[in-house]
Amino acid sequence: MTKFPKGFLWGGATAANQVEGGYDEGGKGLSVTDVQTAGSLEAPRYLTYTLDGKKQKSPALPGQGLPKGAKGAIFDDEYYPNHVAIDFYHHYKEDIKLFAEMGFKVYRLSIAWTRIFPTGLEDEPNQEGLDFYRRVFEELKKYDIEPLVTISHYEDPLTLSEKYNDWGDRGMIDAYVKYATTLFKEYKGLVKYWLTFNEINTALLGLSTFGGNGKDEDFQHNYQKLHYEFVASARAVKAAHEIDPNYVVGNMICGIVFYPGSPDPKDVLLNRYSWEQNIFYCGDVQCKGKYPTFAKRLWAEHNVHLDITDQDLQELKEGTVDMYTFSYYMSNMVTTHEVKDKVGGNFAAGAKNPYLNYSEWGWATDPTGLQYYLETIYDRYELPVMVVENGLGAVDKLEDGTVHDSYRIDYLRQHIEAMGKAIENGVDLRGYTTWGCIDCVSAGTGQMSKRYGFIYVDRDDKGEGTLKRLPKDSFYWYKKVIASDGTDL
Ligand code: BG6
Repeated sequence: MTKFPKGFLWGGATAANQVEGGYDEGGKGLSVTDVQTAGSLEAPRYLTYTLDGKKQKSPALPGQGLPKGAKGAIFDDEYYPNHVAIDFYHHYKEDIKLFAEMGFKVYRLSIAWTRIFPTGLEDEPNQEGLDFYRRVFEELKKYDIEPLVTISHYEDPLTLSEKYNDWGDRGMIDAYVKYATTLFKEYKGLVKYWLTFNEINTALLGLSTFGGNGKDEDFQHNYQKLHYEFVASARAVKAAHEIDPNYVVGNMICGIVFYPGSPDPKDVLLNRYSWEQNIFYCGDVQCKGKYPTFAKRLWAEHNVHLDITDQDLQELKEGTVDMYTFSYYMSNMVTTHEVKDKVGGNFAAGAKNPYLNYSEWGWATDPTGLQYYLETIYDRYELPVMVVENGLGAVDKLEDGTVHDSYRIDYLRQHIEAMGKAIENGVDLRGYTTWGCIDCVSAGTGQMSKRYGFIYVDRDDKGEGTLKRLPKDSFYWYKKVIASDGTDL
């Protein structure tokens, strides 16, 4: 069994809107996720808003802004799972203590932009919001747990999103940089690792891979949105290094592996193009500081014309990231042929791979895909890498006050073995944070019943339960894995 390198950062990951709750406490403003209802696989999650004075709902993908002209609204007759989530806002000490008991070296969390700048438009930050995260970071420090902080994880301030039409305007860049710079100054000495945007590439995945059928105008909007986010990210990286040269700033990509559905050269080419659009496009800009050669082809395919200035291109060059990080859950198969056996489910689409097993949500379990992704990405960028999300969303059964989640242990064991192989093959892998190390609200469906955690939280899809925390079998297993540097699996 591979011994992971000394100092390897073992841990877990969550995001503010999926764990914190306290959505209107401590001076916090509303974010885009605060107007998202619960959903399920069959019935999608909705964004709620008013348009032309009328109550409206439309299916929501993570990270999506409101339709143009809409005003985000909370309706009394809807249930919003993020409003309480698992109430990390009031339970963070208890939760961090449990992470420490497992031996976590790192905890990936995100900051809710609206706790720091409630609308995003204020000149001065909200002190209560700053104080909350300071307390969280100090608590982590007590246990020698390194925070890994995502600056923006699917929860733009609602006011900004309405004003700038979900990153459809340059005004977002300044608002983001003001927010990021505030964090870099405020938490100097407490935080070392930062990620600029969670899964930045979902803007493209959402239009095609996740069963989407984007129109040219959607591609126009999302490629433009991405450009503004790239500039914002690059400016933030540069500011971070000026504020503290020890800061390590990464990008974060939704890492999906694509396979050709057959040896038909047309499928092989389609597969290459899927990697380019969905994975390399964002990674290249953020790691190499320039648009890839194939960008022009991608834009031409959908008649996209972008507002890109010379100064933007200069800033992209000056703000390349220090490390590449990504989430990994599954692979997808793409084909030009008719698909008989289709994969359904949020975040998953395309043809079913006969060599793989699928989760209840239609996600393919593919540890070899993780090795493939790691080796591909390291070869392309030669930057330190971290796997900052990985895990199995499953329905857990509570029995005698615990959960016997051998299926989760199996999934994680196989993925850790795959990481070990990539390390043996030379990949500079620095850390691993499993997704939803404590049960939390699903980003894709808003369900609590899609659980990933080592720690069970007593709360259901209707918002009922005591919020009590209970370690699962996987809790004790992961503790052993960390203590043995990944050798005792
Ligand atoms: C990633 C996101 O896409 O996948 C997380 O960064 C999300 O926010 C995770 O929770 C798992 O997806 P889901 O839909 O099962 O919550």
